[in-house]
Amino acid sequence: TTPTTPTEKLLGFAPVAKSLLDSVIVPVGYTATAIYALGDPLTATTPAYKNDGTDTDFENRAGDHHDGMEWFGLSADGKASLTSVDRGLLGVNHEATTDEKYASFFLHANGGTSTLPRPAAEVDKETAIHGVSFVEVRKANGKWEYVKDSAFNRRFTCLTEMDLSGPVRGNALAITKYSTTGTKTRGTLNNCGTGKTPWNSFVTGEENWAGYFTRSSTDDAARGNDKSVTSLKRYGRAQGAGSRHGWETGGTDDKYARWNISQIGTSNNGSDDYRNEMNGMGYIVEMDAYDKTKLAKKRTALGRFAHESAAFGKPVAGKPLAVYMGDDSRNEYIYKFVSSTNWDAADANSSNALAMGDKYLDSGKLYVAQFNADGSGKWIELSINNPLIAAYTGYKFADQADICVNTRLAGDAVGATKMDRPEWCSVNPANGEIYYSLTNNSNRNVNPTGSSQLAPDSANPRAYTDMKGTTAQSGNPNGHILRMKEGADGSTALTFTWDVYLFAAEASADAGKINLSSLTNDQDMSSPDGLAFSPATGICWIQTDDGAYTDATNCMMLAGLPGQVGDGEKVTLNYTKADGSNLAVTTYVGKKPTADTLKRFLVGPAACEITGIAETPDGKALFVNIQHPGETTSAANIADPSKYTSQWPSNAGYGAGKRPRSATIVITKNDGGRVGS
Ligand code: FEO
Ligand code: CA
Ligand code: CA
Ligand code: CA
Repeated sequence: TTPTTPTEKLLGFAPVAKSLLDSVIVPVGYTATAIYALGDPLTATTPAYKNDGTDTDFENRAGDHHDGMEWFGLSADGKASLTSVDRGLLGVNHEATTDEKYASFFLHANGGTSTLPRPAAEVDKETAIHGVSFVEVRKANGKWEYVKDSAFNRRFTCLTEMDLSGPVRGNALAITKYSTTGTKTRGTLNNCGTGKTPWNSFVTGEENWAGYFTRSSTDDAARGNDKSVTSLKRYGRAQGAGSRHGWETGGTDDKYARWNISQIGTSNNGSDDYRNEMNGMGYIVEMDAYDKTKLAKKRTALGRFAHESAAFGKPVAGKPLAVYMGDDSRNEYIYKFVSSTNWDAADANSSNALAMGDKYLDSGKLYVAQFNADGSGKWIELSINNPLIAAYTGYKFADQADICVNTRLAGDAVGATKMDRPEWCSVNPANGEIYYSLTNNSNRNVNPTGSSQLAPDSANPRAYTDMKGTTAQSGNPNGHILRMKEGADGSTALTFTWDVYLFAAEASADAGKINLSSLTNDQDMSSPDGLAFSPATGICWIQTDDGAYTDATNCMMLAGLPGQVGDGEKVTLNYTKADGSNLAVTTYVGKKPTADTLKRFLVGPAACEITGIAETPDGKALFVNIQHPGETTSAANIADPSKYTSQWPSNAGYGAGKRPRSATIVITKNDGGRVGS
């Protein structure tokens, strides 16, 4: 039977109000239920989570800080299925952990050790709760649940062996004590956004991995002041940088020692030391959701930076594939990878997903974006043959692998546009346009000083300290959503046009300076981050990770029905510089949303971020992650649950203990309709 295409009105729900409650709010007629939280057991024999800091065996439990997420259907007989709507696997990123001065305090009975050295037992828990999980979920008797004893359940941690694939595999920069051939590395770390390949495998982006490594204050000299020092500085590891958790102090075993990259031997290639250890992190990593025998593969051709999501352009038979990506740090870049191999639609049904990754993701061209003030832009190739790269005096690239490891430096070399923190990107299935959340940027400044501050420009045009536009004139605290339309060549286009779909803002903010999209109380938001188009409904789901509007509301998710690049107007913002002169910045504001095209759909519990989206192919079950509820809790209050800034999800009836837990929720419509209708 041919399924009938639903024709019900989208965004028919009544918008939810902003909220500071410690609960998940969804529209009337919808139900949101927690189904998979930090610590939940993933094998039949793993004990239930006590949630009091005494739990162990985190390699067999859900990790922490649920982030990006993708759905992989399972048929009734347990085979990969593109159509199943009541049984599947969720691939879930476990980005990080709620910590204060080293310790992930909710994980330890007394809040853990806030001084160095860290006890090995604490470090072992913390390394295990990072990474990725695959967990089976199913609808049984009308209710969704996760399946504790599923044979598909799997964990990857930041110590799991993985393959390096693509140009960096076997390169001198990848040689470590762990892999003297430079072909393997340990683990995946700070997994933030996700993506799904056209051949139905999972890809995860490694984001703020650099902060987990430490360097001594004399490491520059120990390295002979070679070019690795330039690389380390560009990725946020100047000598003397401390590590987020002090894991390097857990013991002498490689699983602890590896986090200290200042241990320099005599080989000058890393085979007897840890100098190259950090080069194993920072990639898009591909995993086979269904086959537990396959190692994950780091797809190094897609570049190394603070990755968020990886969004595939709609595949066209006989044409190369495009993968869009962002580097989420202040003033970083937007990227595109174009495969060398043309798409063969038969590959969508391959039973060997990672072989397809080898075919499409290990060889291709990597581009970085440059935005022009006239609403156009270009993709600049990051190739060892690009004369701008050969001529760059800031860093001497040896080969294409060097570009894949030091992608930020390559972007510098070609003059890419520095953006307001590119978070998730997603492709609009209706027209192929690419949407990027630019979450915020405290380094935007009308009077820039130092090397990190930048004047506002057309693609990053706002610079106001607060949301009212009353205080001049630094920072873009609320962020915006940029969109791009490829030129006539589609995936291989070297030019594009762009505009700004939405400027996030408080509804009461000045409409001429700040609230440029005229958001109402039913639509206002700050710091968009998660962003994904629903394949089922075409809705653009927007999720926030905010620190600017949190006096008025917890983080949220909105539903949008966008138009297209160029459907709005050209606007000029006028700033007064410190010397009294005018700075005029022209930008392009997309058609303003109406009450029917943008609505707030969900507000989360206290001190959380909303992130990650997956749905069943019929659009009737939407999975969303509640990340780090209660993260503003002080570790000193670990013994007093009344002082936790959130007690979700136990206050919603999920699980033992009062310590807040990151968790996946499932949202369904009570009348059985599609979510967002
Ligand atoms: Fe993990 Fe940039 O958010
Ligand atoms: Ca994010
Ligand atoms: Ca964020
Ligand atoms: Ca986060």
